[in-house]
Amino acid sequence: MKLFLDTADIEEIRQAADLGVIDGVTTNPTLIAKEKKDFKSVIRKICEIIDGPVSAEVTSTTSQEMVDEAYTLSKIHENVVIKIPLTKDGLVAASKLAEKEVPVNMTLIFSPNQALLACKAGARYVSPFVGRLDDIGHDGVLIASQCQDIINTYDFDAEVIAASIRHPMHVFHCAQEGVDIATVPFKVLMQMMKHPLTDNGLEQFMRDWKSAQS
Ligand code: E4P
Repeated sequence: MKLFLDTADIEEIRQAADLGVIDGVTTNPTLIAKEKKDFKSVIRKICEIIDGPVSAEVTSTTSQEMVDEAYTLSKIHENVVIKIPLTKDGLVAASKLAEKEVPVNMTLIFSPNQALLACKAGARYVSPFVGRLDDIGHDGVLIASQCQDIINTYDFDAEVIAASIRHPMHVFHCAQEGVDIATVPFKVLMQMMKHPLTDNGLEQFMRDWKSAQS
């Protein structure tokens, strides 16, 4: 399973990169806005730190504008993946970009049928929003898993990115279901490595070691 980091915070990305477990980064307009910095320079910086796909989302809503924006964003770095919302215009834009081999991550996916359409349009990644589905009483992990089943069954050249991850159990359950990728906020990444028995065990080892030295 690949792990992406879901943030535009450069310091978080640097820290996560040092762990050697991050395969890519996803951003969205909300995460970019939080940084209060120039969009393109943030994306460029991320690409310099992480050697993997970096999703940058379009902010226009018509297909032609999305395509134009995509070409501008693609020029930032060869690893940029264009994030496009699953709307009618989004599908038109994704199809046009796929024809030109521009990698697309279709976002704001909340159903397996939306994922199927994204794959048919040639998207390289499909991003079901697990946490936001849970918020409205649906089973986000199940829907991510159903999206994955469709890709596996028809052998689409696409990967599922489980997005809107809120806690470590989301990651674990997606991993159990065979979901290709989870994109995790920095906080969740930190929570994934923590276990009280690891901390207690280390404390005990250090105590015993020191007392043997004295
Ligand atoms: C990533 O691709 C998504 O934009 C992000 O995971 C959404 O997360 P949220 O539902 O916590 O805003």
